[in-house]
Amino acid sequence: MSGVFIIGAAGKIGHRLGPILLERNMAVGAMARAAEQLEKLRETGVTPVEGDLLALDAAGLSTLMQGYETVIFSAGAGGKGGPEMTRAIDGEGLEKAVNAARSARVKRFILVSAFMDAGRGANPPNERFELYMQVKRNADARLVQSDLDWVILRPGTLTDEVGSGRIRAGAAIPYGNVSRDNVAATLAEIVASPAINHRIIELTDGGVPIAEAIANLAG
Ligand SMILES: NC(=O)c1ccc[n+]([C@@H]2O[C@H](COP(=O)([O-])OP(=O)(O)OC[C@H]3O[C@@H](n4cnc5c(N)ncnc54)[C@H](OP(=O)(O)O)[C@@H]3O)[C@@H](O)[C@H]2O)c1
Repeated sequence: MSGVFIIGAAGKIGHRLGPILLERNMAVGAMARAAEQLEKLRETGVTPVEGDLLALDAAGLSTLMQGYETVIFSAGAGGKGGPEMTRAIDGEGLEKAVNAARSARVKRFILVSAFMDAGRGANPPNERFELYMQVKRNADARLVQSDLDWVILRPGTLTDEVGSGRIRAGAAIPYGNVSRDNVAATLAEIVASPAINHRIIELTDGGVPIAEAIANLAG
């Protein structure tokens, strides 16, 4: 089976992403940990997969990913549970998912990371945010060192505004906001563009239609 396995599928990006992938005729496995989240996911048409990144080991996670061609990791502790949980989900969780993807023979791994300029320059320094950025960067490095096909997407600050369908995307762009709608649509476009490989892409809202912006990166 080809298709996309989303880790963090019930999140604010994840639950937008599933239906977009379905519209593009892709099979979608949607991993979440709470029963009510799984039920809501089922209603959108995706295949709900029960899984908790904290409880699963790499072998267990690998079993869940079996048969999927692409993994999208959009999970995060979101500041809940302090530094320990940030390390456990955004850091060790990502590492576990990369190891699981390798042993499940997943081809491509797309990581929702963070724009490194976000939250910088606070006075006094925001230590929690600094740790978050450190964990995200180490997670990026872990994925880059793997032998998977990978794409790292670094969105600016996320908003819940209705998606404009227009973005700015590139290896290094000015920092800014981006709607979760636009992030989800950009992820779907990257999934549909296998020529984009081994790329770190910074993303904000912008003026270029999403399909065109991603095609420009593939060219
Ligand atoms: N906020 C920003 O401005 C910003 C900017 C750039 C990048 N990001 C990154 O973008 C990503 C997604 O953003 P978002 O808005 O979609 O975040 P979100 O709504 O908080 O989604 C994160 C998802 O991760 C899941 N998760 C957490 N712990 C888990 C576990 N142990 N097992 C399985 N799933 C688990 C959460 O599920 P539960 O509901 O069960 O906890 C949630 O569904 C995050 O990684 C975030 O770091 C954020």
